[in-house]
Order: sequence, then structure tokens, then C-alpha cells
Amino acid sequence: MTYSRLAGTGGYLPEKVLTNAELEKMVDTTDAWIRERTGIHKRHVAADDETTCDLAEHAARRAIEAAALNAGEIDLIIVATTTPDQIFPSTACLLQQRLDIHGCPAFDVQAVCTGFIYALGIADKFIRAGSARNALVIGAETLSRIVDWTDRKTCVLFGDGAGAVVLQASATPGILSTHLHADGQYGALLQVPTGVSKRATEDGDSYPYMEMQGNEIFKIAVNTLGRIVDETLAANDMTQADVDWLVPHQANQRIIAATAKKLKLPEDHVVMTVQEHGNTSAASVPLALDVAIRDGRIRRGETVLLEAFGGGLTWGSALLRY
Ligand code: UT7
Repeated sequence: MTYSRLAGTGGYLPEKVLTNAELEKMVDTTDAWIRERTGIHKRHVAADDETTCDLAEHAARRAIEAAALNAGEIDLIIVATTTPDQIFPSTACLLQQRLDIHGCPAFDVQAVCTGFIYALGIADKFIRAGSARNALVIGAETLSRIVDWTDRKTCVLFGDGAGAVVLQASATPGILSTHLHADGQYGALLQVPTGVSKRATEDGDSYPYMEMQGNEIFKIAVNTLGRIVDETLAANDMTQADVDWLVPHQANQRIIAATAKKLKLPEDHVVMTVQEHGNTSAASVPLALDVAIRDGRIRRGETVLLEAFGGGLTWGSALLRY
């Protein structure tokens, strides 16, 4: 039986930092409100000439190096992003060219904040089926490009960044299970109402900005993430006590705390980067995972639960033995 294991991780944040104090000068908000309601202190924002593929490339090179591979050994590239450089080629194909890899499948996955979990689930299935041996799986976003910087309800929440993993075929289990879900009936609660084919809203707006009914999303997220914890543990015949680490999507400290409570996990076994990174959508889980692996918190043999929730609505989890 072939499994997929985490062979290496990498992360990248753009240099420019945007603090809550700076946001106070841009919209009617306060540092205290942002910290209390979300846990966010600051976020990184891409430079004007920096694209999603630029961020993805840095993270990818770091993950490939950590896996002790040459780029030429990568045989599958999946980039989860909602903010691709271009309509096409896909960001994965742009990245493949930068890494001088030729011929392997490369494609993007669009599941908003759950994108990385979706991409990981797909790569795991490629490896289990024998269709790939070294998969590069990335979450990369320049959310700052679709944030309305005059809307205090959303602009204080999001940041840019990229996280990457190399998944490798192995005889011993790494990824134990993945669980992917969506329910389009709630799509309008978190959306960019225009795009490529739908060029303008009913009101004639054509610029693609994000809109969110945060409070509704918050309630659905807490309930849904609670359910996916149960589903993931049951599928693996495990209890809360078997999970060493929670690496959640970094949308809001209070949502993360609710999931940790469900898992009965103490705070020091929950990886939190939201205070430093903000919500980086598809990049948030692999960025947090990379931080906790590189600083030595997550160790080989430990059991890690990844989960995410976002636009679509989409949600998902992955349980892995590191
Ligand atoms: O990653 C994808 C999934 N996304 C999420 O999971 C996000 C889920 N939602 C959230 O994290 C929270 O709902 C928010 C952080 C977005 C908002 O927090 P909240 O506690 O749900 O606040 P609220 O929307 O209920 O608003 C409370 C008040 C309102 O004022 P009134 O109506 O009570 O006078 C808002 O207008 O806070 C006001 N408000 C702000 N005040 C200062 C909203 N945004 C701000 C702001 N600064 N930036």
C-alpha cells in the first residue's frame, strides 16, 4: 500500500507589513477592535509588482529544499489560489516554468480558504493511486488585490502569503484521511460578485471586490468545523486524545478557539499565526504548518489535524502523521 507523507514544507510572506495602526488611518476602525474581534495584529501585503506566482515560487523552493529534492523530481504541481496571476495559464503552469520542470501535470484549484486542503486531498489521491511520487502542493494568495480598502468589515482581515508542501510516496502512512465538502447554497455570504464571465453586478459594478457577511459566516464556520472534527476522528477510529496538534485555517482567533475546545486541545497545541499573518485564505494552513514544523513544535510521529472553511461555502480537513 502506498501512502503520501510530508517530505518538506516552505512558506513566504511579502516584505511589506500593514499594521492595525496604519489601518486606523485608512478606515473607521481601531487596533483594539481588530485585536479583540479577530486576534489580528498585522498582515503582510504584496508589493505592486509582486504576484501570487512570485510568492508561490519562494515557498515552493523552500519546500523542495526541505524535502532534499531537486525540482526535476517533482511530478505533480497543484496551486490552490483564488487570486491567480492571470486567467490562464494557471499559476501552477507559470510556476512549473519558473522551476524549470517540464511535462508533469500542473493545475490550479479554486476552493477559496479551503483550497489548500482540497489540493492536498487531490495530491494524496494521485500518490495513493501511483500517479505521482513527489507532489508539490501550494496555497498562495494576493488577497490584497480583491480587498475593498474602503470596507472596514473586510479590509482589516486579510493578508498575502504562500505556503507549500512536498508530499512524497511512502510505505508508511503520512496523510491518514482527507475530508472535502461544499454547499453552494451559502455562496452569497462570502463572494466576489463579478469576474471573468459575469462582468458586472446588477448595479453595474465591475471591479472584483470581496464581500462578506462576517457574522453569518462566523456562526456557520464554528458549527461546521465542529462537525468536521467529529467526522475526521470517526473515520480514523480516533478520539480527541489522539490528536497532538491543530493547524487550523487562520481566519479568526475566536473560531480557532472554538475548534480547539471541541478537540479539548490546550492552547499550546494549536498553531496560531493569525495575529501575524491575518487571513491569507488558501495560504493560511500551509504557512502555519511550515512555521510550526520549522520552529520544532511539530515533531516526526505526531498526529496533526488540518482544517479550513471558506467561500463557496467550502470546508475540509486532513489528518496526518508527520
Ligand atoms: O476565511 C473565510 C471565512 N471567513 C471567516 O471565517 C470570517 C468569519 N467572521 C468573522 O471573523 C467575524 O464575523 C468578523 C471579524 C468579520 C466580524 O466580527 P463580529 O464580532 O462578527 O462583528 P460584527 O460583524 O457582528 O460587527 C459588530 C460591530 C458592528 O457595529 P454595530 O452594528 O454593532 O454598530 C460593525 O459595524 O462591529 C462593527 N465593525 C467594526 N468596527 C470597527 C465591523 N468591522 C469593524 C472594524 N472596526 N473593522
